[in-house]
Amino acid sequence: MNDEGERLQKVLARLGFGSRRRCEELIADGRVTVDGVVAELGCRVDVDDEIVVAVDGAPVGVKPDLVHYLINKPAGVITTADDPQNRPTVVEMVPREPRVFPVGRLDGDTEGLLLLTNDGQLAHRLTHPSFGVEKEYLVEVTGQPSRGVIRRLRDGVELDDGPTARARVSAVQPSVLRITIHEGRNRQVRRMCEAVGHPVMRLVRTRIGPIVDPKLKPGEWRALRREEVRALEVAVGDQKPDRPTGRGG
Ligand code: URA
Repeated sequence: MNDEGERLQKVLARLGFGSRRRCEELIADGRVTVDGVVAELGCRVDVDDEIVVAVDGAPVGVKPDLVHYLINKPAGVITTADDPQNRPTVVEMVPREPRVFPVGRLDGDTEGLLLLTNDGQLAHRLTHPSFGVEKEYLVEVTGQPSRGVIRRLRDGVELDDGPTARARVSAVQPSVLRITIHEGRNRQVRRMCEAVGHPVMRLVRTRIGPIVDPKLKPGEWRALRREEVRALEVAVGDQKPDRPTGRGG
């Protein structure tokens, strides 16, 4: 906390937590912390400092220069910032400045939703298994998995790096499964399906925690809206969501 900088209620209002008055109430109710200490009404913060502001325990990105992009990665685009083999990369799909990095990874031949950001704190929480953020995939497999196979996928299958945690698995067509996992191990969905005798033909990620976008076409990107960033922050925090104003961002 700081004698200079911006008033905390102003920062929170800008981030979509409601009017300044409403944000003052959040602070007065003790729901806002700065670096783990309950904030006092009237306190100021310097958003350029390395501070962690949290509302109801969920850290919020306060730096004005934080960007969060959602892309629909086509097959053949590599999840890396720099590919020595000069293949197309996910960072080339979004604006060059400010520099962003992918949140987790999708295999080269996997399609679908991927986040890119310069928000290191959020990225860390989204990828760390202890936060358990769900990722949902549509999976076209060879053959037609039986009910028993689907049950095995749900209950956990033995992989060479240990058994998988329980997953949500349903058949949307005889050869197409919807699989929701929260671990994010390397090539996990492919290895799970391979382990039960139904190798993957096509893999598309359709959801990352609260983030979905069936209208985003392969190769397209967009900035996350303020309320989407907030929903991600809630997903990796441990408290209930607040109501953002829904202003774009
Ligand atoms: N599981 C996989 O097997 N591959 C991905 O790209 C993502 C999840």
